[in-house]
Amino acid sequence: MTPAIPRTAVVSGGIGGLGTAICIALARAGCRVVAADLDGHGGRIDAFARETGGLDIGFAALDVTDFAACGALVREVEAAHGALDILVNAAGITRDTTLRKMEPAQWDAVLGVNLGGVFNLCRHAVDGMASRGFGRIVNISSVNGQTGQFGQTNYSAAKAGMHGFTMALAREVARKGVTVNSISPGYCETAMVLAMPQEIRDGIVDKVPVGRLGKPEEIARTVAFLAADDASFITGANIPVNGGLFMSF
Ligand code: CAA
Repeated sequence: MTPAIPRTAVVSGGIGGLGTAICIALARAGCRVVAADLDGHGGRIDAFARETGGLDIGFAALDVTDFAACGALVREVEAAHGALDILVNAAGITRDTTLRKMEPAQWDAVLGVNLGGVFNLCRHAVDGMASRGFGRIVNISSVNGQTGQFGQTNYSAAKAGMHGFTMALAREVARKGVTVNSISPGYCETAMVLAMPQEIRDGIVDKVPVGRLGKPEEIARTVAFLAADDASFITGANIPVNGGLFMSF
């Protein structure tokens, strides 16, 4: 549903595989969108501009591990647009390897971006949302935070931690018009998943009841759903979007 007043959204990891689709879905839902991502992003900026051309989507260079830079971005967006209404934390990396081979740097990198980045942006965004009486925070977690995945102690810990964070913050701001939810995507058609060894990927797809990888748009529509003005009674939830790979009740 198009919001009565245009909402302003920041999407971290906005140039990434899921991030681009999320930016497009929010813009099509009537939001102004700022895609925040590493400057340059491996030459993806030009492709991003082509894919999002004609939509109200800007770009801001941001390293989500930089606490001060996250604060500066939030203040810039609030100054330019009057508010930051929707924050989608989609910045994520993998450094897959078994724990017995994992270097501290691989642990720190994944925890720093995937979980530290959520703290850094939420910490700066949440006061403004609460004082304005409206906010939507959507954290992009992973099925692997629910199940654990071989070779991903760092990633699974960060993604599970993201949902603990989601539930705790949801309670803190529930009476201020701010909802905080997470989405746990399964394996999707993104560079991150396509970079996996093919035989491992094929083995995982074989186990997906729907029988295929997810499409970024299938995650993005769930983000747009949770970010809508009338999603106001959903908070502290984790929505699995995984083709049936992991089911729970
Ligand atoms: N379960 C149990 N045992 C396994 C296993 C599994 N899934 N995979 C491998 N093993 C076994 C191997 O058979 C091998 O056994 P032996 O030593 O007895 O021969 C042992 O574990 C070591 O395996 P490898 O030699 O393959 O270990 P490696 O260090 O070379 O590779 C790895 C490990 C890089 C983590 C590789 O297994 C891998 O890429 N796994 C996939 C990880 C994954 O799913 N990543 C998801 C990325 S996408 C994403 O994260 C997005 C999202 O949110 C869904």
